[in-house]
Formats: sequence, structure tokens, C-alpha cells
Amino acid sequence: MTVPNHQTILIVDFGSQVTQLIARRLRELGVYCEIHPFSSAADNLARLNPLGIILSGGPASVLDENAPAIAPELLAAGVPILGICYGQQALVLALGGAVEAGHSREFGRADVTPEKPSTLYDGVWDLGTPHPVWMSHGDRVTALPEGFKVVATSPGAPLAVIANEERRIWATQFHPEVHHTPDGVQLFENFVKNICGCTGDWTMATYRSQAIEKIRHQVGKGRVICGLSGGVDSSVAAVLIHEAIGDQLTCVFVDHGLLRQDEAEQVLEMFRGHYNIPLIHANHQDRFIDALEGVEDPEKKRKIIGSLFIETFEDVASQLGEVEFLAQGTLYPDVIESVSFTGGPSVTIKSHHNVGGLPERMNMELVEPLRELFKDEVRALGRELGLPENFVGRHPFPGPGLAIRCPGGITREKLEILRSADAVYLDEIKKAGLYDKIWQAFAVLLPVQTVGVMGDGRTYEFVCALRAVTSVDGMTADFYPYDMEFLSRTATRIINEVPGINRVVYDITSKPPGTIEWE
Ligand code: XMP
Repeated sequence: MTVPNHQTILIVDFGSQVTQLIARRLRELGVYCEIHPFSSAADNLARLNPLGIILSGGPASVLDENAPAIAPELLAAGVPILGICYGQQALVLALGGAVEAGHSREFGRADVTPEKPSTLYDGVWDLGTPHPVWMSHGDRVTALPEGFKVVATSPGAPLAVIANEERRIWATQFHPEVHHTPDGVQLFENFVKNICGCTGDWTMATYRSQAIEKIRHQVGKGRVICGLSGGVDSSVAAVLIHEAIGDQLTCVFVDHGLLRQDEAEQVLEMFRGHYNIPLIHANHQDRFIDALEGVEDPEKKRKIIGSLFIETFEDVASQLGEVEFLAQGTLYPDVIESVSFTGGPSVTIKSHHNVGGLPERMNMELVEPLRELFKDEVRALGRELGLPENFVGRHPFPGPGLAIRCPGGITREKLEILRSADAVYLDEIKKAGLYDKIWQAFAVLLPVQTVGVMGDGRTYEFVCALRAVTSVDGMTADFYPYDMEFLSRTATRIINEVPGINRVVYDITSKPPGTIEWE
């Protein structure tokens, strides 16, 4: 763990589904923050030296046996504290107040009225006027700790905001981090800037120069390899590392034959042509496609691709001689150790494929320059590094590629049909100016043939499903509400231009219960 060179806010996670949103809001304000589980947050105090602490919400009841509690070191740190929902109740209990079991937990809109002045909403909310927030009702605070006052109320939550201005502790029953609390960002701004004194020193320009220093320091004269997929994360990581250590970096692009139309050429052109970064194009299409022949089970397909990827990467790397470091585009959401109150391991929905497993097998040290960033920050860093917009703004693409967009067994012929349909679909999306409004869009080739009529003849061809979703992080998603004209135009083009497809359907499933990819 490294010591951040920025003013920092420590976010203590009590397991809320929306803890990450607190971090996102602060980062949008130019303030660096780290999320740590309630059980280990205090261990990070010395390293982070935070200017303030935010306590998240959480699903537990403070009255439960073994309920997560605030470590006394956090209260003794002497920096401003903001408690949210569960964080409010935990604060009250820790400071000598009382909490009583409330009725059932409910999440919903409420109006909060400031009754007394408070630095938390100074300049944001007017006294005596109701302001909309997203409230979480559960247990109720029945006695305030000494020195605390109720400063804002709402009909369902008489203690909507409590404060001890002298000790610089505030706590809200509502969630300022969710979009449904329209003034939430301004409340956070008051807290982190006016109260904690953060200046907003977290910018991509400073991040870039500090990351470069860090990479140089870690790598010294060593050699680094970086698996490149053409996606935003690995591309930004590679360009940043190249800027730091030049040709000590070699990128390896494993072409598994499951890429989209012209994708390999675009990656090669950008890295070799534009950036002059040493890049090995490992064309192993036959190896992957042959191994997948006749395999229909989605998990088997994923596992075959994952292990072949590792084997191929190892083969290529071994030809490079001594390489000490492996670079990965790991992001902050992968690093955050979320608190689980359900106990036990979480269910595997899909075996995600990335380069996991490689570092141990190859005995290499990891270089992960994006570990502290959210996806939107990686994009901002990409822009800062001058990556072309069509790379930076790209929709995510899964490691197993088109194999999981071709349910059932894959063949070269099916992949070709899918590639063509996908290209037409994306072309229409771009022409309609919708690409940046959609989080991810792609075509899926179903293993179903249907009867159609074209000209005077009968056709018996495949069905193509179109998918488009909006999402923040891929964890949940809604289908994109195209207008019918767009769908009709796109379907007509696909059927006319792509031999092998005679029917197009649109997938209107959200996640959950669906997943974004079909396999
Ligand atoms: P699902 O289908 O699980 O996908 O809703 C969520 C997001 O993850 C992407 N995805 C993957 N990304 N390796 C990746 O790097 C994978 O194996 C993988 N599987 C799914 C998917 O495209 C979506 O953005």
C-alpha cells in the first residue's frame, strides 16, 4: 500500500450497496478518497493521514449482536466526521446516545427541513424550507449524545441531520451520495472543502505525473510486459507505462480470433503507428477456435479461453527473456474489499476472464498504475495522455470476446456473420449520435434458424439479437429505450447486408434479472 500524495478523505464501509457512490462523488469534486471496511479502516489512519472521515450506510442494525461498530481510533483522530444512515446510528451509540429498533427498513424520497444553521448545508439549504433527499428509515435514534443537536428534520425522520459543530461531527439519516438527493454533491462539497479543508488537488494532470514517478521507482531498469486487449483500461495502462519507462515495456496482444471487425488492425495501428510502443501481435486464432469446436457450455467456453490465454501469453513472454514485471489495468472497484454481511463466498455467476493467475505462475511482480481509479477517471487519464477519443470512449468488451456473444457452439462462419451484423449495428448507433449515451451495445448471434421470405424465395437463416444497455458500473443495467424507427432501420440493414441472418430481435431485459452478455 502506498502513501497518497494528495489530501485524502477516509471512507469507512459498513456494507452499504452505495458506498462506492460516496467515493465517486468526492472524486468528482477533485478530492482523493479511499474506502476501507469498518474492521480495518483504523489501520489505515497513519498511512492516509485523512483530513476527514465519512461513515457509510449499511444493511445491519446497530442493535444486532456483533453489529459493526466504529473503531475508537477513528473518533479520536480529531478530524471532521460525517456519518450517513447506519453511520449516524453507529456514531450515536459510540458517543453515548441511544438507538431503538424502528419499523421495517424502507428507502424512499423525503423532504428535509433545516431548523437550525449548520456548516454542513450552509449556502446550500435555506432554513425553514423543505429539500428533497433519499431517506433510509430503519432504527431510530432516541437519545442524542452529549453536545449534539438536531439541526434538520423530516416528517418520517425527526433526526434527519444531527450535529456537534464544536467537535466537528455531523450525521444524516438520508443518503447524500445517491442521485435522488439532488443537493448531495453540494453537501459533500461543504463537508470536504469548507469543513475538512480539501482544496480539490486530485486532478488527472497531477495523477499522471505522480503515477509516472511511481512506475519509474517500482520498475527501475527492469522489463515489463503488458497484455493488451484493445480495451480502455489496458490501453491507458500501457501508454502511461510507456511514458514512464519507454522501451523497457513490451506489449503483447493475444489475437484469439474472437475480436470485432477490424479490431486487431486498429489496436496495431494505434500502438505501433501512433505511439511507437513495442508490440507483439500474437496471432493464435486457430489455436482458440479449434479448441472451442463443438463446445456449447458457456462456462466451459470461458474456461478454455481463459487457460489458453494464459498459455499463449506465457509462450510469448518466454521468448522475451528475463521479464520481472507484469502490467495490468486493474481498477479501483476491483480492489475495494467490500464488506459482506451475508457470510460465505459469493455465488459465481460467470467466470470472468482476465489475466488472473498469470503473475503467480510466471513469478512476476505486478505493475497496476490504475488501481486507484474508477472507470470514468481512467477515461479522463486517457484523454490527458492524448489517446484518441474513439479509444477512450469505447464501450467495454469482454475478454472472451465474441465467443460469449454466439450462444452454443461457435464456428468461423458464425463468427463472421456476427462480426458483420455487429459492425452494421454500431455504425447505425454512431450515425444516430447514440454511442456515448449507451454504456454497451453489441449484436448476439442466436443458435436458432427461422423461416423467412426474401424476394420470391424462402430463407432459413439465423436470428440476430441486439443488446444495448445503460449502466454506471456494469453491476446493474437497464436496456436502452431506442425509438422504433431506429430499430426498424437497423434491422432492415442487417437483414439486407448480412448473409446468414433473416430475423432481428431486440433484448429488453434489465440486469438483474438478466446479465449484460448472453453467456
Ligand atoms: P455481465 O454479462 O456479467 O457483464 O452482466 C458485466 C460486464 O462485464 C463484461 N464482461 C467481462 N469482462 N472479462 C471481462 O473483461 C469477462 O470475462 C467478462 N464477462 C463479461 C461485460 O461485457 C459487461 O460489460
